Amino acid sequence: MINCIHATGEAKPKNFLSISFSASRRRGGGRRREENARKFFGFCTRESASVSEARIIGHQGSIQNTFELRSIHTAKILSIETSCDETAVAVLDINGELEKPDIKILGNTLLSQMHLHEKYGGVYPNLAKREHEKNLPILLEKTLEQAGFPSPAKGKVPKAEGVDLIAVTSGPGLEPALWVGITFAEKLGKKWNKPIIPVNHMTGHIWSVLFEGKKMELPAIALLVSGGHTELVYIKDFEEYKIMGRTRDDAVGEAFDKVARMLGLPYPGGPQISKLAEKNRSMNHESRIMFPRPMINSGDLDFSYSGLKTAVLYKLRDLSQPSPRLGEGGLSPGEVEEMARAFEDAAVEVLIKKTRKAILEKGDIKTLIVGGGVSANHYLRQEIKKMAQNINLEIQLPSVEMTGDNALMIGLAAYVKVKKDPGILKNHAPIIARGNATLG
Ligand code: KG4
Ligand code: ZN
Repeated sequence: MINCIHATGEAKPKNFLSISFSASRRRGGGRRREENARKFFGFCTRESASVSEARIIGHQGSIQNTFELRSIHTAKILSIETSCDETAVAVLDINGELEKPDIKILGNTLLSQMHLHEKYGGVYPNLAKREHEKNLPILLEKTLEQAGFPSPAKGKVPKAEGVDLIAVTSGPGLEPALWVGITFAEKLGKKWNKPIIPVNHMTGHIWSVLFEGKKMELPAIALLVSGGHTELVYIKDFEEYKIMGRTRDDAVGEAFDKVARMLGLPYPGGPQISKLAEKNRSMNHESRIMFPRPMINSGDLDFSYSGLKTAVLYKLRDLSQPSPRLGEGGLSPGEVEEMARAFEDAAVEVLIKKTRKAILEKGDIKTLIVGGGVSANHYLRQEIKKMAQNINLEIQLPSVEMTGDNALMIGLAAYVKVKKDPGILKNHAPIIARGNATLG
């Protein structure tokens, strides 16, 4: 069993269309699972799927192909995400310039397998693969239905003449999981005679901020923080990425998840740590525990989170020793909150300091972008906004609902890719799953 490169995934906020099956429900077998999926879908209207109500336009319009090959002004994109433990499909109608595209979400579905993988302590690749295979046809049908496409005859592939192109995540991620999405996209592309655009998952996290509707000014620095990545990326222009720094060991999300497990907190760990840390901060105590800030003064822009995780482990051992204060040993709820806060303080401080350094080093940065699952973290959002304000820099953050993995961001990243270089539509080379795909 290998840990997913995106680590253990993350619960989707409630107003995101997320349908997670509990392990017990899963045990009912394939047919029951499908029935459950359909039953759940019954409650998932377009409205409940909205990432931002204001920008979701109920219009389904006439389905027509307005796609142009030499300069893309508008595209209806069907997107597929299966890089880790979330199966997701979306249909977007996107128009206009990349700096501020006009985006209509026509369909958006997501199934999380998180609960299935929980007992393995990470994502089990073959299980993820099997689940994606089962979920994709169900989600496709539902998404197309939301988007107003005609329902297929029983057992037939849905028709989608209005789709201009298909976007699919090709990496980074778990290769068996990525292959499911790619194979599915290729079958659809053949059936519909539509081009397929492979998308780097991390570009999805970067451009997820465009859903907020603010004008994007480049060059930018993107801080990408997820279960598998901690990276600082210089974006000179759309599709021009250069990695300036990255983690040398654990990703920050992975550290959140591992520390949470050490503290006996329920899965998923990141949001749990965040909640307890906030509770401790709200009591206005000075933190009595101080963890190291790994590599904070290393002079480069790399990160390291494995040492911080070990420091937490040692502290935990110290505090758990039987002592008069603790009675039988083990941590009191207050001490768990204190540990969570001290860990979060250390993890976030390094992110902020290195991001600031990257911005100042470049000198031409107009925007700071923050993306990935950990960008849902309340304290990080607060502190990074403060830092950007201090240096008078525009910051673009995704809404919390958009921070986790989803297919919307993949469709939007495909639009960026195609608009920047429409020539890629003529590229018919087979798409390869690249588990370790990097940017730049
Ligand atoms: O981007 P994502 O959904 O999947 C990957 O591509 O990895 O990120 C998942 C990571 C998990 O490690 C999860 O614990 C972390 O994001 N995360 C958080 C919070 N919400 C999710 N970490 C800290 N605070 C949060 N509020
Ligand atoms: Zn991700």
